[in-house]
Amino acid sequence: PPQRDALKARAKALLAERQAVLVAHYYVDGDLQDLALETGGLVADSLEMARFGRDHAAQTLVVAGVRFMGESAKILSPHKRVLMPDLDATCSLDLGCPPEDFAAFCDAHPDRTVVVYANTSAAVKARADWMVTSSCALAIVGHLAAEGRKILWAPDRHLGRYIQEQTGADMLLWNGACIVHDEFKGLELDLLRAEHPGAKVLVHPESPQSVVAQADVVGSTTQLLDAVRTLDAPAFIVATDNGLMHRMRQLAPGKVLIEAPTAGSSATCKSCAHCPWMAMNALQGVVDCLEQGRGEIQVDEPVRSQALGCIERMLDFVK
Ligand code: 13P
Ligand code: SF4
Repeated sequence: PPQRDALKARAKALLAERQAVLVAHYYVDGDLQDLALETGGLVADSLEMARFGRDHAAQTLVVAGVRFMGESAKILSPHKRVLMPDLDATCSLDLGCPPEDFAAFCDAHPDRTVVVYANTSAAVKARADWMVTSSCALAIVGHLAAEGRKILWAPDRHLGRYIQEQTGADMLLWNGACIVHDEFKGLELDLLRAEHPGAKVLVHPESPQSVVAQADVVGSTTQLLDAVRTLDAPAFIVATDNGLMHRMRQLAPGKVLIEAPTAGSSATCKSCAHCPWMAMNALQGVVDCLEQGRGEIQVDEPVRSQALGCIERMLDFVK
């Protein structure tokens, strides 16, 4: 539509004018993903977004995703301006892990190494020894378990259980969930697989155990994308936010992509797995934040420097 093209052109001009770079997550609107790639920015998983924002020379980062992604960028680069198209874009994992309750949980278990998922507030990260994302969680917890450390994990219970199963680590789990991935259904997936016997099943580890158990590949958004590109299969059933389909279709045009069933799936609504907070990111928001300086992320001291340690530890580990 002409209005969309005009907004995209305006956003492009503003990014160049303000010497800003757009860093987008795979779950945001396809127009924003394309805009990021067409302007020298990045579309990626949360680990790569953090690294790219830190290393890029631009002094203004526009982070299209959810709040914790903007906060991580600001924690890593306090002197850069970090803007978000919509500051209300949050995450059910972040909302379900209030810093005061989390601090009490940590206080009750001082013998445990505190490992938190990236999808948390800066205040929660300030209490953590390590941060992990879905792409490096297994490697980091495996490493800590090999050192004999006992772990306190928050907030995603499904990812925590998956890491525990895979690494054998002693983990105490917070009871959080992603409202998108928690909806995938094992029984319905089993039926769908029977309809598509040649299809490989790709699952994000925030999904329930009954879904992860049927996966050919479990991984972060980038790891699932790599699987579609590289695995020799004609079709894939994908259990993650359907925003990822945009990039999957671009990178693997000949492959058949099928959305895994969720509680809300039906013949008329097949696109149920989409994060309402990721969906708040729009071209208009990119234009507004650059034009009006709206949506700037701030992380106050001393929380910022306290949260920095756990993120840097992860980035050093994955180097
Ligand atoms: P990734 O680290 O795989 O990009 O996941 C972030 C996220 O919010 C998944 O729901
Ligand atoms: Fe959070 Fe889930 Fe949305 Fe990812 S998809 S941002 S984990 S609510």
